[in-house]
Amino acid sequence: MNIGIMGTGYVGLVHGAVLSSYGFNVTCMDVDEHKIKQLAAGISPIYEPGLEQLIQRGIESGTLSFTSNAQQVVQTSDVIFIAVGTPSKKDGSADLSYVRSVVQTISNHLNGYKVVVCKSTLPIGSSSRIAEQLNGALQASGASFRVDVASNPEFLRQGQAVSDALSPSRIVIGTNSDAAKQMLQRIYATQIERKVPVLYTNAETAEMVKYAANSFLAVKISFINELALLAEKVGANIDDIAEGMGLDSRISPHFLQAGPGYGGSCFPKDTEAVVDIGKRNGEDLLVVQAAIQANKKQKQKMITKIASRLSFNGKLRGRTVAVWGLSFKPDTDDIRDAPSRDIIQGLVDLGATVKVYCPQGMRQARRLWSELNGAIHYCDSEAESAANADAIVLMTEWAQFRNVDLAAIASNMRGNRAMFDLRNMFAMNTDVQQLFSYYGVGTYSEP
Ligand code: UGA
Repeated sequence: MNIGIMGTGYVGLVHGAVLSSYGFNVTCMDVDEHKIKQLAAGISPIYEPGLEQLIQRGIESGTLSFTSNAQQVVQTSDVIFIAVGTPSKKDGSADLSYVRSVVQTISNHLNGYKVVVCKSTLPIGSSSRIAEQLNGALQASGASFRVDVASNPEFLRQGQAVSDALSPSRIVIGTNSDAAKQMLQRIYATQIERKVPVLYTNAETAEMVKYAANSFLAVKISFINELALLAEKVGANIDDIAEGMGLDSRISPHFLQAGPGYGGSCFPKDTEAVVDIGKRNGEDLLVVQAAIQANKKQKQKMITKIASRLSFNGKLRGRTVAVWGLSFKPDTDDIRDAPSRDIIQGLVDLGATVKVYCPQGMRQARRLWSELNGAIHYCDSEAESAANADAIVLMTEWAQFRNVDLAAIASNMRGNRAMFDLRNMFAMNTDVQQLFSYYGVGTYSEP
């Protein structure tokens, strides 16, 4: 079976590389020719553990190739996955321009029956509209064949994308076509044999499962973050509260880690998009709206927390703050919608000198945060960023932060040597807490 993947972002690339490892002939297509050249040479444009090796193995075994030639991919593929981005527009709705362009490209080059699979997170009803558009054009041109369209949302997490794609929590297949269903069953045969649960449903439900899952996880995070603010006021410990809640299997312990607010290319975008879809359909999604508001408040609260400990007269002029971790989560270089961006901006606005270090996120930050370039200083290590600083703000829980020599780092700092541990990485470590004026999230009582 020949598989074409339109779009080599996180989803398309990881999905393509994993399917090629199962022996399918996979061609990944992208309009970005520079990226295609890099990929053809076995270089991953993103940092994702295990991905580059998988790409190289696919290329070596001849099952994975890359091209910018859309016509060739459309015409030689039995199944075409649409995996282009659907970023947020200013009003929160999903920007479907990349999807429209890919669908038009597919429509221009169709030469026989194919299954078109929507992997991108698309507004509910999109897959059916794509089917109408493609089949409408085929009918108008007098073609003797049609295509089937299925929704097959992706649930992988960045940082664990390869292992999630190899062993997904579930596979959701949304289509009314038996032929499309059978094609997808063949594609996912390895996972299905390994007893990965499969949900068969219609396209609208599959599309909505994705929004429902991401919004629900965002709600969980905002819920625990709001309780963390309260815990600080009443002298309770949020990590213990999360553990106490999570021991109830109806709640589950996952996604109850308090922090600086959720970020990334998915939760902020998908929560806004589902609220927009709700409005268009006359339904106000109040719980999701509250999660979005609470997430904005959380980031602001983190700035207030830092400023209230470090400021003179509410300002941070003369203070130096080291920020550790720019990416929105560990093991990725992705800084899209990272909480670090808003928190750094808040500190800069208050007059602080900000020195940043991130194991993987700095290249992207230099590229995408150009407006901050003069205001922040990029450093090569944790120690360099913290030298002569008044405080460390630990934004992202990279494992390597556990292994740095914090005693040596603290001895090179000045003032009260504060540590704002916004991920509670050292909340159980009394040695670390003795080295710094230590502040976690929801783990201590306000004075
Ligand atoms: C998320 C979902 O978890 C995936 O299932 C989904 O496929 C993906 O979005 C997507 O739609 O493509 P991802 O954005 O990679 O995956 O990362 P998560 O691990 O979900 O973390 C998202 C944000 O929530 C991060 O900023 C993280 O730090 C934060 N978070 C997560 C918390 O603050 N607390 C938690 O307990 C968990």
